[in-house]
Amino acid sequence: MVLSLSKGKKNLNMNKKEIEYFDVNQKLWDAKTKIHVGSQFYNMEAFLAGENSLRKIELAELPPLEGKTIFHSQCHFGQDTLSMQRMGGQCTGIDLSAEAIAQAKALNEQLGLSAKFVQTNVYEIDKHIEEQFDVVFTSYGVIGWLPDLDRWAYQLLSRLKSGGTFYMVEFHPAMYQYNWDNKQLEYSYFNTGEPTLEVEEGTYADRDSDISLKEYFWQHSFAEVFNALIKHGLEIESMNEYDYSPYQIFGTEVKRAEQEYLFQVNEIDLPLVFSLKGIKK
Ligand SMILES: C[S@@+](CC[C@H](N)C(=O)[O-])C[C@H]1O[C@@H](n2cnc3c(N)ncnc32)[C@H](O)[C@@H]1O
Repeated sequence: MVLSLSKGKKNLNMNKKEIEYFDVNQKLWDAKTKIHVGSQFYNMEAFLAGENSLRKIELAELPPLEGKTIFHSQCHFGQDTLSMQRMGGQCTGIDLSAEAIAQAKALNEQLGLSAKFVQTNVYEIDKHIEEQFDVVFTSYGVIGWLPDLDRWAYQLLSRLKSGGTFYMVEFHPAMYQYNWDNKQLEYSYFNTGEPTLEVEEGTYADRDSDISLKEYFWQHSFAEVFNALIKHGLEIESMNEYDYSPYQIFGTEVKRAEQEYLFQVNEIDLPLVFSLKGIKK
């Protein structure tokens, strides 16, 4: 059975299986969010006191945000969205997790900011938001929650004005091939079409936390990322790869410098992050 969730020319349907996967993932992210807001990882005290939660990679690569309208996809509970708002942008963040959006709205109010937050699946953005923005932004741990990137690129680039900037910074597909605990090569580099099902104990922001929930995720190769964005009208300007992550998420990384964590397999540094910037035609 196919549930039709969108109208118009493009086929944006989610099938019944996908809806079940997203339901499982939403429960996971609702539960994670409750832990994340109080975690040392997200350091709410520093954030409330004015710390910018964006990392040095995107701070160096993003265009000036002052006076720009910004669409932030998969914004989690809004720290990065609100950081960009504090930098002078007018931001709208979306996320699948109702808990994350509720927390983001509460933070926005607490800080007296005027960002907007909307709960929606990436694949249904067009049902909720019609506006087009100067900048579309998405970061760290996003595309793996989506079965295919064609609908992702369509939705995100539909929200971008012609001449506007698309910017993503994401974990590297090579990194997702490894089992992070035993450092063995375990997953395909390619999107097999089928999700990987895992039960995650704890969460990257607090590995000892008392949650154990199912998650479905998908691998995406560079060809898939690039072709989806090009197909939907992006002229790619630059792409960078980094041998470090600005976050310590596995617990087994080596710290090289501030916001630089290395993950080594057989003493070789894996590529951990990539960024991509382009202009919509
Ligand atoms: C790892 S977090 C993004 C991290 C973000 N850079 C941060 O640290 O705040 C991934 C986010 O994607 C959201 N998400 C997962 N699947 C989604 C979907 N299908 N549509 C929209 N959001 C989704 C989750 O709810 C979660 O908030």
